[in-house]
Amino acid sequence: MKPIDLRSDTVTLPTEEMLEAIRHAELGDDVYGEDPTVNKLEEMAAEKMGKEAAMLVPSGTMANLVSVLSNTKRGDSAVLEANSHIYWYELGGISAIASVLPLPVRGTMGVMDPSDIEAALRPKGLHMAKTTLVCIENTHNRAGGTIVTPSQTEAISKVAKEHRLRLYMDGARIFNAAVALKVDVQQFTRHVDNLMFCLSKGLSCPVGSIVVGTEEHIQKARRARKILGGGMRQAGVIAAPGIIALEKMIDRLEDDHRNARLLAEGLIKMEGIKVDMKTVQTNMVIFDIDSLGVRADIFVKKMKGHGVLAGNISKTRIRMVTHRGIEKEDIEKALAATEETIRELRKKTH
Ligand SMILES: Cc1ncc(COP(=O)(O)O)c(C=O)c1O
Repeated sequence: MKPIDLRSDTVTLPTEEMLEAIRHAELGDDVYGEDPTVNKLEEMAAEKMGKEAAMLVPSGTMANLVSVLSNTKRGDSAVLEANSHIYWYELGGISAIASVLPLPVRGTMGVMDPSDIEAALRPKGLHMAKTTLVCIENTHNRAGGTIVTPSQTEAISKVAKEHRLRLYMDGARIFNAAVALKVDVQQFTRHVDNLMFCLSKGLSCPVGSIVVGTEEHIQKARRARKILGGGMRQAGVIAAPGIIALEKMIDRLEDDHRNARLLAEGLIKMEGIKVDMKTVQTNMVIFDIDSLGVRADIFVKKMKGHGVLAGNISKTRIRMVTHRGIEKEDIEKALAATEETIRELRKKTH
């Protein structure tokens, strides 16, 4: 039987309509700016985000790196959240490729306090790597899909403006934040200079992320994408499902949020499992199994034996992510499998 895959929303497969759109997409050479489907998607994305221009890239990781490159110079420093995706999961590209010194600031549920950002800035001086950029992540992955609210984003943008820093948002799951708070996505985007969002996560596309900003910024970003080898030719095959995602896949994120809540409410009732319900805001659930006295990687392996895939994100913490294809019945099965795993482990230790 097919396992219930709760490792990530990146495992979603394209819809039939997306596959049809790929088959019929009008194509051209996007490095020449001549792919009509890419051009249409980029225009739609810019308009949706309330910005001047947008650019398709193959992945969220490239979108982040392109954005760091186009917002900084070699030898600058950038403030980012200490558990952010850029700092943890992107091979240190910010340093290794962009030659930028990261200044990590620990946030609360993924949200940096503006005063902590201010404190982290390097003072101006001969000995200092000039701070030019602040990066926020929304929703915040390692914090459990938590939201940086529009007012929190605005408060951070005030600090950035006061210090003449650029503000960038890794908005891989920004539509999850907008849907959860029932606000237009521009409530977030209007406070940042540039952002990216992913098509390939809850929106169910097979590939792709989009960098958004001013016309001038996107011109710079196009050069950064090219040097990284991200200039794509008939990229309309990627853009076609992206258009469907923007038209039809945003509202359904609500279902993922409902299922994540159901999952969290079931998990919290189990002995040995801790869930901080405050962090269950969108499509992720992180739970702690410290009191079970078993390592998270072993727990995850046992869960796999019961047909449920999850991810261990530290020695004691496990993450489950809901997405298209995960229904209420799957959540019920996942909860039963978790209970069974706990029972088995208990038997072993007693
Ligand atoms: C917050 C965040 N940013 C960036 C990325 C990178 O996206 P990709 O896997 O497409 O490179 C991810 C992927 O999970 C993410 O969660």
